[in-house]
Amino acid sequence: MKGIILAGGLGTRLLPLTKITNKHLLPVHKEPMIYYPLKSLINAGIRDILLVTGGNHAGDFLKLLGNGSEFGLEHINYTYQEGEGGIAEALGLAEYFAGNDRICVMLGDNIIEKNFVQAAQDFIKQPSGAKILLKKVPDPERFGVPILDGDKVVKIEEKPSLPRSPYAVTGIYMYDHTVFDIIKTLKPSHRGELEITDVNNAYIDKGELTWNVLEGWWTDAGTFESLLKASNLVAQTGANRMD
Ligand code: DAU
Repeated sequence: MKGIILAGGLGTRLLPLTKITNKHLLPVHKEPMIYYPLKSLINAGIRDILLVTGGNHAGDFLKLLGNGSEFGLEHINYTYQEGEGGIAEALGLAEYFAGNDRICVMLGDNIIEKNFVQAAQDFIKQPSGAKILLKKVPDPERFGVPILDGDKVVKIEEKPSLPRSPYAVTGIYMYDHTVFDIIKTLKPSHRGELEITDVNNAYIDKGELTWNVLEGWWTDAGTFESLLKASNLVAQTGANRMD
């Protein structure tokens, strides 16, 4: 399985911190934010990784990460997203990289305490389709929220004002190669973006979406509150643990 980290977008929720740098280069405890999803993919056994970035500071990723030798990688692939057309648009740029392989996508501002080795192994055994990782949170209205019927996800709602379950859809997604055909059918949402939630709902409609619960804590780091929370959690317990 190949890995893709999405680190495009303009990070406007963190202005002025993101005025002169990319959100994913900001510090989370002792390391730049982008180190965390990169280590998460490596922990899941993924060695072939594409970083999608954008904005005015894309070159800084190359200076920071180079070919990934610090992380035991032989090479890192890079591509560039113009503007801020959404998570699914950024993922669409990975089509040439993915080819017919399965992919594991992680959002560049998602940070996890442990690892998702089990979920990745489960997905490899799945004949086709997609897998998402869910986490119970106190504030699901900030995220994609699944509607569950028994143990089936029947729909995902993006940032609903009245969440229908206490779960967030985390920014870790596993897809077969048909994801790129789905992305080509998407229309921009009311916020002008191609939504990853619409991609996941397309897999639900095909009856091909499975889910696991992510172990350990999970947070995004895209707001002032969550950026601070991420640093505190990492300081308290460490991140990307393999236990
Ligand atoms: O963190 C999980 C949540 O991420 C999910 O629960 C939501 O369903 C999903 O839509 C997303 O929500 P956000 O609104 O918080 O996503 P945000 O716009 O902050 O983007 C998250 C990351 O995705 C960002 O750190 C970089 C990448 N991204 C985002 C956009 C809009 C891109 O690479 N390109 C983009 O155009």
